[in-house]
Amino acid sequence: MGKQREIGADNTLMWRLSNDLKLFKNLTMGHTIVMGRKTFESIGKALPGRVNMVVSSTMSAAEDILSAINLNDAIEMARNSGETEVFIIGGGQIYSYALELADKLYISFVDGSFEHADTFFPDFDLNEWRETESKKYPKDEKNEYDFVFKVFERKGLLG
Ligand SMILES: NC(=O)c1ccc[n+]([C@@H]2O[C@H](COP(=O)([O-])OP(=O)(O)OC[C@H]3O[C@@H](n4cnc5c(N)ncnc54)[C@H](OP(=O)(O)O)[C@@H]3O)[C@@H](O)[C@H]2O)c1
Repeated sequence: MGKQREIGADNTLMWRLSNDLKLFKNLTMGHTIVMGRKTFESIGKALPGRVNMVVSSTMSAAEDILSAINLNDAIEMARNSGETEVFIIGGGQIYSYALELADKLYISFVDGSFEHADTFFPDFDLNEWRETESKKYPKDEKNEYDFVFKVFERKGLLG
């Protein structure tokens, strides 16, 4: 996300960050990824090596794609198949439903502002989360912006 929690514009990403894509690939490979129908259309195909699930009230399953009528059904299907970690990969609508269900957040904070953004990560209370990892990635020829990759785990009842 950008500095104002921007995540997308015109159904596409707003930055080219090779290191962020590598982190995404390494984390999700071999697992189930769940996305909204618009994010699926933006990616345009199933991502290899992962179980791809699309949440939609209009789209049915297709080759290499499972469809779910809502996020809870998608998570249930993944659990029933023995999945150990389900990755909710966006976009904005799906993130806003997912935030209360999530127990871990993997976020790249991009050091840029994007005025043309039309999609945002939901506002969330950092006090509910414990930061467990933080790593800076400087910009270079394959990464348009500096970014910091952070991992947060939801605090338990005892904080
Ligand atoms: N930076 C990032 O991390 C990141 C990640 C992913 C995506 N993005 C960007 O985010 C944007 C897309 O996000 P978006 O918010 O517009 O769309 P989205 O969340 O990807 O998809 C929205 C669609 O998901 C389905 N959906 C959502 N909630 C549902 C529910 N409760 N029950 C059933 N179906 C539901 C609906 O599909 P139907 O209309 O078919 O029912 C809805 O139109 C793009 O710009 C993309 O590039 C950014």
